[in-house]
Amino acid sequence: LYRSGQNGSGPARVLVVGVGTRDELTAERLREAAGRAVGRARELQLQEVSFWLSGSWLTDGMSAEKAARALGEGAVLAAWRFDEYLSDPDQQGQSASLESASVLVPEGQLEAAAAGVAVGSVLANAQNYARELGAHPANVLNPRYLADEAERVGRECGFEVTVLNREGLAAEGMSSLLAVAAGSEEEPRFISMHYRGGGNGRPLVLVGKGVTFDAGGLSLKTAQGMETMKYDMSGAAAVLGAMRAVSELGVALPVVGLIPAVENLPSGHALRPGDIIRAHSGKTIEVLNTDAEGRLILADALSYAGRYEPAAMVDIATLTGACVVALGRHAMGLMGNDPELVEELSEAADRSGERVWQLPLWDDYREQLKSTIADIKNTGGRPAGAITAGMFLREFAGSRPWAHLDIAGTAWAGEAGAYQPQGPTGVGVRLLTEWVRGRAG
Ligand code: BES
Ligand code: MN
Ligand code: ZN
Repeated sequence: LYRSGQNGSGPARVLVVGVGTRDELTAERLREAAGRAVGRARELQLQEVSFWLSGSWLTDGMSAEKAARALGEGAVLAAWRFDEYLSDPDQQGQSASLESASVLVPEGQLEAAAAGVAVGSVLANAQNYARELGAHPANVLNPRYLADEAERVGRECGFEVTVLNREGLAAEGMSSLLAVAAGSEEEPRFISMHYRGGGNGRPLVLVGKGVTFDAGGLSLKTAQGMETMKYDMSGAAAVLGAMRAVSELGVALPVVGLIPAVENLPSGHALRPGDIIRAHSGKTIEVLNTDAEGRLILADALSYAGRYEPAAMVDIATLTGACVVALGRHAMGLMGNDPELVEELSEAADRSGERVWQLPLWDDYREQLKSTIADIKNTGGRPAGAITAGMFLREFAGSRPWAHLDIAGTAWAGEAGAYQPQGPTGVGVRLLTEWVRGRAG
């Protein structure tokens, strides 16, 4: 920490943050460095911070735009705190002193850097918005709240929103979704968001799991850790955040966001293990475990999505504990029925800094979902649990290019990172938006 003379010229303090050698310099390192710097600035109660984007960083692989975007993302993400339920945020050490961050750039790089900061701050603000949704407790954020939020964001950002309630869902034949919702007093919602950027071509469809609380239903979870299941709507939050970012960036492609929103509770009306339901697609499902509810609501959302004749669809969901076992907190599970789409998403992941890792959907796994009494079972046993969940969804995606992102391991941070406080991560917003941007060219 260097203090200059207080003569009103140069900076009052200089903070030096290591980013490694030039060969090691990545966007993620810059995101982390900006995050650490903002963290320190907050501790010092500073109002203002500037990053110096060094000309010596710039290479073929690291443009001023990319570097400035990463700094912007890191700063905005690190500045986020959730204090809505704190009576006195200042007292509780959560005060948000920081008001502005800027990037100083080498001569001739201003335009490129400004473009990077513009994109980065839209993405990071949208991700912070998804975090905020994930942070709200389930007694506040229920399916109704999600639908109201979608309508509000739609008005603000200029996309259309329509919402189905229980009656509307019944009229559409969304029985699998309704079966999950049956145990809760909270009415389910099905949220459709339509961003009509760039005309009337086939849209991209994003589908987000919106289980606002997952107690497991009659296949009740254990008490240990059940409180974290308020974040079982993180897929929905990612889709809402991506819709917001896509419209703010004015992407020249139509995009549809779909959110099946329910609460999964046990009650006298609840779905029972052993029940057989007929999904929206017409397929019958033998429900062996009511805690495998995410795939039940996504099944209906994916077959409903067919009406938009999507160019491609991607669902995102906190779907399986098995994915946490497989990949831990460091990557989302990626599966799909279309190698090109899977490749596109992997590339978008590289550009966005949100990591994915592909798991196979080989037909061999389908055996595990065979039922003797219905078309399919909703669980495939312990082996390859993330994959059999993906196999289940594949049955309802039909023949359209479809991919699935399992964010059970990445939607919640157990401990803080460089630009991530402990809690909801808002993962998926940057990846989905980057994928859509890439498609728009
Ligand atoms: N929401 C859970 C998955 C989950 C687990 C998310 C841990 C985040 C952290 C999902 O609805 C669930 O309960 N899945 C079951 C499926 C099983 C019954 C086949 C699971 O993973 O145990
Ligand atoms: Mn569950
Ligand atoms: Zn769940």
